[in-house]
Amino acid sequence: MLAIGYRKSLQRIMQETVYPPTRTAPAIPARVNKSATMDTGCAQQLSRTKLTAGQIAELNAYDFMAHLGKQIINPGGKTGRDQMLAALVIPPTARLLEIGCGTGVNACYIARTYGCNVTAVDISTSMVERARNVIRSAHLENNVLCHYADINDLPFVDNEFDFIICQAVLMFVDQPAALTEVRRVLKPSGQFAAVEFNWRVIPLPALRDSTYRICGCHTLKFHSSAGWLDLFKANGFNHTELIQQPFRMLRIAGFLRDEGFNSLKILARALARWANLKRMMQIWRHFSRHQDYIGYVILSGRKP
Ligand SMILES: C[S@@+](CC[C@H](N)C(=O)[O-])C[C@H]1O[C@@H](n2cnc3c(N)ncnc32)[C@H](O)[C@@H]1O
Repeated sequence: MLAIGYRKSLQRIMQETVYPPTRTAPAIPARVNKSATMDTGCAQQLSRTKLTAGQIAELNAYDFMAHLGKQIINPGGKTGRDQMLAALVIPPTARLLEIGCGTGVNACYIARTYGCNVTAVDISTSMVERARNVIRSAHLENNVLCHYADINDLPFVDNEFDFIICQAVLMFVDQPAALTEVRRVLKPSGQFAAVEFNWRVIPLPALRDSTYRICGCHTLKFHSSAGWLDLFKANGFNHTELIQQPFRMLRIAGFLRDEGFNSLKILARALARWANLKRMMQIWRHFSRHQDYIGYVILSGRKP
């Protein structure tokens, strides 16, 4: 009896892992459908059908985490997000843009905590659909607007936002181009903050390359803390600040803090399929083994 019950719940979890159709999400604008077929760097447009073992092995690390149902997918987890938000003083009247919003959980948290309007964008149309579902379930449709956008080509006029944030996004993209675009849409004196992986110790090329390979992304680029700060300064931000932290997201305590009961679902999904477990172990082992090298930084800067 127990075995049958266990099997049935595993089957249910495996079916749930296939992305559910969006119920009432507005149509994605025309420019999105066009761009979704472009080379979007590391952003993968996930299929709605059940993924094959080969497709799971090829998923980049964050799409894989999203595939398992993880909701917070950045190196600092909730702790890093809160440290980043502490660097900003966000009034309820602020207009805040989150770029690379992923599952939309952080955008909802910000709208609820600060009472401000949030525009959340992502280059992955499947992430946008997920985020819209999360926003709808949280009844925050009037506070959080979510749509497709590429950080390198933001569909906003100059000087539009008081605050812009991104978590684990800059490391995937053309960083000087992205920072120029962020600066363009930020108001003068507006603040930009980011959470990104960093090299706590500069690695040998073999470790650097294997880390980027495990993450499943050929355009990935981390910097040392000094390297990130220099990048912000060189691209026109002043009053720059940086906090460096060890990477804890994949530790059990970090997992539980970020996901709560959802951790059990994620674990069950990982165990339900060998391909999931294999990819999970590959990422987990690499980051645990090299934790002295890999950390994360919280960066902030102001547009002059
Ligand atoms: C590691 S996930 C982080 C998700 C979310 N920020 C979080 O903290 O949970 C990176 C996100 O950035 C998005 N992304 C990657 N390249 C992007 C780009 N050029 N423009 C906008 N978003 C991008 C991905 O689709 C993905 O959702």
